[in-house]
Amino acid sequence: MTFRITKLAVGAVLGTAAIGLAGCAPAGAPAGSGGGEGGEGDCNVGISMPTRSLERWINDGEGLQALLEDDGCTVDLQYADNETDQQVSQIQNQVAGGANVLVVAAIDGETLGQVLEDAASQDVTVIAYDRLINGTEAVDYYATFDNYQVGQLQGRFIEEQLDLANGAGPFNFEPFAGSPDDNNAGFFFQGAWDVLQPYVESGQLVIPSNVLSATNDDWQSIGILGWGSDDAQAEMDNRLQSFYTGGQQVDVVLSPNDSLALGIEQSLTSAGYAPGADWPIITGQDADVANVQAILADQQSMTVWKDTRELGDRVQQMIQSIIAGDEPETNDTETYDNGVKVVPAYLLDPQVVVKDDVQSVLVDSGFIDGSDVGL
Ligand code: BGC
Repeated sequence: MTFRITKLAVGAVLGTAAIGLAGCAPAGAPAGSGGGEGGEGDCNVGISMPTRSLERWINDGEGLQALLEDDGCTVDLQYADNETDQQVSQIQNQVAGGANVLVVAAIDGETLGQVLEDAASQDVTVIAYDRLINGTEAVDYYATFDNYQVGQLQGRFIEEQLDLANGAGPFNFEPFAGSPDDNNAGFFFQGAWDVLQPYVESGQLVIPSNVLSATNDDWQSIGILGWGSDDAQAEMDNRLQSFYTGGQQVDVVLSPNDSLALGIEQSLTSAGYAPGADWPIITGQDADVANVQAILADQQSMTVWKDTRELGDRVQQMIQSIIAGDEPETNDTETYDNGVKVVPAYLLDPQVVVKDDVQSVLVDSGFIDGSDVGL
């Protein structure tokens, strides 16, 4: 069933997805709010995360698990080593183990249709976590940060730092993009490119490597599969060695996230760039500890911070609603079309963090430990 729904109509339509779940009143919810005869065991959640190799997924998974266990839910948390087959079999096991809600951060947004349709046929409610799952009816809700906005913040940061709006330039610019199989990566890129493309067109941003141009924005061709730091480093090494031979300097790098930024920064160090001297502007996303250290050491200009604790809280609330037989709150029913349906989403706001914000925003809020970054 494909239909478009307005924000006002959403409440009327979405409730159906939750009906049929055995009701368990999470701890703290009013007695009987579940509307069914089930006990605590009926809140049985499978969390499927992509990989332990990135700090954010460890924090996301463990944080959400703790919240749900506090609510009295049974939780199975699995990481899939960035291997799609592994993620599929972990989800199958979770459903076989009695999960009635799945929270899935997909490795590959295109390949989970069958396993989720099998889950849906057993009345399992599926929440896509952070990354949308495409090509299937069997995704009920989506909780994420505004992914397009992440890219916009990166693009605007570059625009402001280089004073592009006032005609400054030309600057040598190297764009990077995220994993082509991650639905978010396209949103990140588009958000940034919508700001930066006019400056590529005007010649204020020059791309010596020619990986993209004002008329060729095929971001997937430069996407770093699996988001690996090593692969980003190798790509940057290659661009610097092949296209920066005549004494040219790179002035600005669009990096969609922190894991890529780390590799790019390593490459720049190897090539002899020095912070405070000729180090380029570099963007990032996630506020990983290593990158916050890099920001403090003037090796990274910013990161787009997504307070993943907020995302955990939001998903916890969604699950409480689902288990209680209510419809979860959503705030976007237009943006995330997965090819089969528009998935009702709750979008959270990302925010830019620069060196001056590390203490007041990241440390004071408890997101990172000051001692981990030498503060
Ligand atoms: C997430 C980013 C993360 C990237 C690599 C994306 O889907 O939204 O926060 O940096 O995956 O794991």
